[in-house]
Amino acid sequence: MSDFMLSRRAQTIGDSPTLKINALARALKKEGKPIVHLGGGEPVFPAPQAAAGAIIAKARSRQIKYSPSSGTPELKDAVAKYTLTHYGQQVRPENIIVSSGAKQALFNFLLAAVNEGDEVLFPAPYWVSYPEMVKLAGGKPVIVRPAQGRLLVSFEELSAAVTDKTKAILLNSPNNPSGLIFEVDFIKQVVQLAEQKHIFLVMDDIYHQLVFDGKTCPNPYAYSQNADHLVIVNGVSKLYGLTGLRIGWAVSQNSSLISAMGRMQAQSTSCNSDLSEAAAAAALTGSQHCVEELRSLLQHNRDVLMAELEQIPHVCVQKPQGTFYSFADFGHYNPDSQALAQYLLEKALVAVVPGQAFGMDGHLRISFCASEDSIVEGVRRIKRALENLPIKEG
Ligand SMILES: Cc1ncc(COP(=O)(O)O)c(C=O)c1O
Repeated sequence: MSDFMLSRRAQTIGDSPTLKINALARALKKEGKPIVHLGGGEPVFPAPQAAAGAIIAKARSRQIKYSPSSGTPELKDAVAKYTLTHYGQQVRPENIIVSSGAKQALFNFLLAAVNEGDEVLFPAPYWVSYPEMVKLAGGKPVIVRPAQGRLLVSFEELSAAVTDKTKAILLNSPNNPSGLIFEVDFIKQVVQLAEQKHIFLVMDDIYHQLVFDGKTCPNPYAYSQNADHLVIVNGVSKLYGLTGLRIGWAVSQNSSLISAMGRMQAQSTSCNSDLSEAAAAAALTGSQHCVEELRSLLQHNRDVLMAELEQIPHVCVQKPQGTFYSFADFGHYNPDSQALAQYLLEKALVAVVPGQAFGMDGHLRISFCASEDSIVEGVRRIKRALENLPIKEG
């Protein structure tokens, strides 16, 4: 079908670059190419026993039906306990909406809060989907860039971008792609700014338990006088490696916002998968040993990756404090990250994601959720492929 048959919206929304690289790596692997995939966004861990058990039990009951639109009572109860444990915040069912992934929770928020032309602020580097999601909701993405050589914006840089059209600030910490955590002072000031200016502050906390070296993420509730402005988004995808369940949630004291998000969901997907909700509730209420296991494996993989990257001259990387991504500056080899990622895929058979997709060219996102062997092999191949390239000064 030619493009003129498509909506203007469809013509302006791009593909997800990360999903694209995954599909490409999968296709090349299928052709028999020995691809090392360091572009992924999901832990290789198998599902927790409790989650798998819940799916089996539900399937055996042969009762697989529509469920309450904003989440089953069991899963909402598990989310409420999670919120109390990790944020010290008491929430009721009307403060929670369970969605098909954190992604849908974010999208529901944007549909419920953003009017045509409203500005939604987020710092670069950002998760690839933010700009397109904001545009889909009719909003204007406003990207705040940190000073040269830095991967975290300062409070001054962020607050300078606030206008009377700003509807929401969207923060992801620890951050995909940099793996860095915003400091306490920064979070405190942003919470206060959002309250003073009546702006929503959405914390995309999908990686908040996957943090290293004893670090923790600042809790925004600790600095809030009026938590109606605060929305916390989370999910089971990264925490338990349950990406295939498609279960995430948003929590806010602002029950009319949650209710509006619920209406968006009810009129689009009706409800979440009944099977997935049962599995997510079981993962949240079962043994949490798997989370610590995953966290410490990722910390180890991070150290392996850092040691390997150090062997490549002219590459600058800040040690990730969480997540399973590193965002290294390869600009001396090629400031065009798209071209460099393509070169590495063709010459080294290594898949990584170009920084351009995260709003920062010159960088490559290298994941460390793959196996240790893949990380070592992949980075060594990258090193060998780069030896053939001239160094660009500057
Ligand atoms: C920062 C960030 N937010 C949200 C998501 C979406 O997570 P989910 O699988 O729960 O939709 C991802 C997934 O990669 C992510 O990296």
